[in-house]
Amino acid sequence: MWRDLSPIGRAASGGYFRQPFTSAERECAAWFVEQAARRGLTVETDGIGNMVAWWGPADGPAVVTGSHLDSVLDGGAFDGPLGVVSALAAVDLLRARGVQPDKRLGVSVFVEEEGSRFPLACLGSRLAVGTTTPDQAATMTDRDGVSFEAAMVAAGLSPDLGPSRWLRDVSAFVELHVEQGRHLVDVDEPVALASQIWPHGRYRFEFTGEANHAGTTRMEDRRDPMLSYAVTALAANKQARLAGQRATFGRVAVEPNGTNAIPSKVTAWLDARCDSPQRQADLVAAIERQARERCERDGTSLVVVAESVSAAVEFDPALADQIGGHLPRIPTQAGHDAGILSAAGIPTAMLFVRNPTGVSHSPAEHAELHDCLAGVDALAAVLEGLIR
Ligand code: HGY
Ligand code: MN
Ligand code: MN
Repeated sequence: MWRDLSPIGRAASGGYFRQPFTSAERECAAWFVEQAARRGLTVETDGIGNMVAWWGPADGPAVVTGSHLDSVLDGGAFDGPLGVVSALAAVDLLRARGVQPDKRLGVSVFVEEEGSRFPLACLGSRLAVGTTTPDQAATMTDRDGVSFEAAMVAAGLSPDLGPSRWLRDVSAFVELHVEQGRHLVDVDEPVALASQIWPHGRYRFEFTGEANHAGTTRMEDRRDPMLSYAVTALAANKQARLAGQRATFGRVAVEPNGTNAIPSKVTAWLDARCDSPQRQADLVAAIERQARERCERDGTSLVVVAESVSAAVEFDPALADQIGGHLPRIPTQAGHDAGILSAAGIPTAMLFVRNPTGVSHSPAEHAELHDCLAGVDALAAVLEGLIR
């Protein structure tokens, strides 16, 4: 399975560009449908592009396991796909053991988990559970102004962005995911359970100044938004360090982006993540405050828009005890569809597989085969307990 999937959407960098409804991501979706067909699993696709491949009884309560196939820009091979491949491999393992599911087991793929094309992370699962409405999605466009629905139509899909029918009967959701950090390396364990997801969010900072000539404009006469942005990026890093939290500016758009002109506008996206809702609010407020102070000095203006906000998630302790009391339990700062389903009231658990370097959202992301196989064993054991 891994050999068939891994060339799809891979760039010369070794990283992946599998943005939702692009040809690479649609090729990944076709790979999933083909893998499901090989196993005689019935694939159901909702009006958002999310898919679930069913094994077992035709209806009744369902257990679902899966992850996502979309990637960040120039992302790694494992973030998402490892959960989907491991779910299919777990079905193979259970079948080889002669297990017959008393409850339906679904293998799922949610679209646009990364929010790499559209502003809202986990957009596919948020629409599926209904915490994001079709009207809200209609306001979201990609960098070329293409809406979620238009992107679906262009990919040959028929959008119907209301809540997914198949999620109604789900009594438990389990997502296996490569760890995005080094905890399992430090404790020398191949697999862990997630205890929580930190609150986190994405905030668009729009710095507006005055376009002018890079050479003829005296320094004291400038209203340079690049300066306001640069000081804000430094302030974000300092505030996060001081508070023991996380803050990143990883994406910047400069207008007009000319070599010999002072920009008119700099738009930058802050990704902030903290270990509590209060510290999340405090960190973002501190960064915004320092940005506004700098704008005062630079004669620039600032608009800040929260584009994607994810509340703290505490995974279901009873489910965690039931499926993996013996496993280490670790928090994560990464958002996941499992967090969206958990926040929507579906009993949810996450399994993490050791990542030897901890690196993620990078072509260098990696997991060793023996750890991946340990993940499949752990997932199969969890699922067997849930579907019987
Ligand atoms: O960005 C995240 O937290 C996750 O990888 N989607
Ligand atoms: Mn992921
Ligand atoms: Mn990711």
